[in-house]
Amino acid sequence: MCGIVGYIGYREATPILLTGLKRLEYRGYDSAGLALLEDLPRAVTSNGTETALVTGTRLVIQKCRGKVTELEELSALTPIHSTVGIGHTRWATHGAPSDINSHPHTDQNERLAIIHNGIIENYGQIRDRLAARGHTFRSETDTEVLAHLIGEFYSEERSLTEAVRLALNEVVGAYGIAVVAADDPNEIVCARKGSPLVIGVGNDNEYFVASDAAAIIAHTRQVIYLSDNEMATVSRSGIKTRTISNIEITKNIEVLDMELEAIEKSGFDHFMLKEIHEQPRTITDAMRGRVIEEEGDIVLGGLQNQLRDLRRAKRLILTACGTSFHAGLIGKYMIEQYARIPVEIEYASEFRYRNPIVGDDDVMFGISQSGETADTLAAMREGKRKGARALGIVNVVGSTIARESDGGVYIHAGPEIGVASTKAFTSQLTVLSLLTIMLGRMRHLSVVDGRAMIRELLLIPEKVQRILDDSEQQVKEIAEIFKDATNFLYLGRGYNYPVALEGALKLKEISYIHAEGYPAAEMKHGPIALIDENMPVVIIAPHDEVYEKVLSNIQEVRARKGHVIAIASEGDEKIKELAEQVIYIPRTMSLFTPMLSVVPLQLLSYYMACARGCNVDQPRNLAKSVTVE
Ligand code: F6R
Repeated sequence: MCGIVGYIGYREATPILLTGLKRLEYRGYDSAGLALLEDLPRAVTSNGTETALVTGTRLVIQKCRGKVTELEELSALTPIHSTVGIGHTRWATHGAPSDINSHPHTDQNERLAIIHNGIIENYGQIRDRLAARGHTFRSETDTEVLAHLIGEFYSEERSLTEAVRLALNEVVGAYGIAVVAADDPNEIVCARKGSPLVIGVGNDNEYFVASDAAAIIAHTRQVIYLSDNEMATVSRSGIKTRTISNIEITKNIEVLDMELEAIEKSGFDHFMLKEIHEQPRTITDAMRGRVIEEEGDIVLGGLQNQLRDLRRAKRLILTACGTSFHAGLIGKYMIEQYARIPVEIEYASEFRYRNPIVGDDDVMFGISQSGETADTLAAMREGKRKGARALGIVNVVGSTIARESDGGVYIHAGPEIGVASTKAFTSQLTVLSLLTIMLGRMRHLSVVDGRAMIRELLLIPEKVQRILDDSEQQVKEIAEIFKDATNFLYLGRGYNYPVALEGALKLKEISYIHAEGYPAAEMKHGPIALIDENMPVVIIAPHDEVYEKVLSNIQEVRARKGHVIAIASEGDEKIKELAEQVIYIPRTMSLFTPMLSVVPLQLLSYYMACARGCNVDQPRNLAKSVTVE
């Protein structure tokens, strides 16, 4: 979704802001813009001969619909000497993507500029009130209304910080904002509620503001995370923090755990492909230091204070969205089978609004790569309110879900830049496998069984590597064959039913081909009507408890002339007689098959998207982290 970057220091702001915005491109956006405080004096030549000297500070806005490179070109036409500025990538909510709706927005007198992530819910009322006082609005956005509101409070007697604070007290909604003003040229004011904001502390009196640490990691690792309802005034001499109810607060500087290479492509054509290939390592990282093989047990540091609740829990509730939801669905199957605890899994967006039954005997896990997904966060807050322990399974360290949880487990997948989630999914599955073994050992799982599961789990990274080595070329060829298909069906049973959902989601996200995932047996109850000679059907058929049943489903597809692409276990010769294409994966315990079977499906969607000329890393309309409802 939208991205924020800000800079105040001694260097030229424009290149720092543009590079920061490029680092945020992966989040999805449709327009970009800068607000720069131009350092004057400046010589202005008129009539070709006369030269006048202008002094003071000028607020300059450069913005356009389209990509950051287009903003870069625009900005190069009018170079601005500035050491203070803010930049934004916008993902349209209020008002279509257009030059005028792009951020930054200015107030009525064009003295201040604001960039904003989130949604101001009561912007309509504020807009009417301000319009009645003579304000005219140039855009259709809620953000411009906030700019005007801050402008109403901003005066010679009142600082920019105070004006922002007073305005925010009137606002209902979610925001991460950064504001600059020509009359206060030595500061950036920023604030957050429901939309992340981090302040980077550089060397030599320079500071950065960002909605995502990726935008500033090239400059500093020292950061301050703002929490909800907090604001900061960032100047070259330091950072002053307070709540929006005006209580001064002291924030700790934390050190970012992120490498610059982790947010670069390292020779791959796309981040998505790089991240698919990183999985042998990221799965290992998710297990690192957590496995006690001899005892057949698992230690998850972030859950050590929750062991009593986990032991007594009558039920687990998993909540998540999208790909993380699919991981949760597999988690339910694993935990119920091996730990014998009832598990409910629900889309966070449904859970938060339907008045679910939750009690003190419930332990809730929110699963989220970004740790910022608005629905997941709200569902966890709702669960907590009703008495459940709310724990997180999160990738981004320091994210809101991680900070608000009572405890939890980081998946340690490293930054995931490709919009389509890949390595986070297999790392979530790894952590859910660890959790399953841990909960199982607290209840019904013997040391021998725990040990056997751990030994098999430790082999998964190597098996993923084998799939990447052996099947990538084959998958690429399959993608060439089916690249013009307009529909795809994905079928799986048991542990691989959620993988069918995930395979279909990946395909539609980045190749824009309509795809549906189903439990294979459900095919007869409706989707079978779609099958004809134009329908490719991906069937996940590893050698597990439901293998024979899946073979029958393959027969049903073939009988209707559908094209079967099977994901099968190494050594399965029988399936070759039934399927047109067979992609082999190594054998493993059933509960771990999703970590293997999903890999060819990730590759298939990737190569389909490439073959169709789609923008793999930044698919249309999608945002990496969905911070609005
Ligand atoms: C799919 C995808 C999305 C996310 C979903 C939840 O490839 O990336 O479906 O899984 O938006 O995001 P997180 O996990 O960040 O809460």
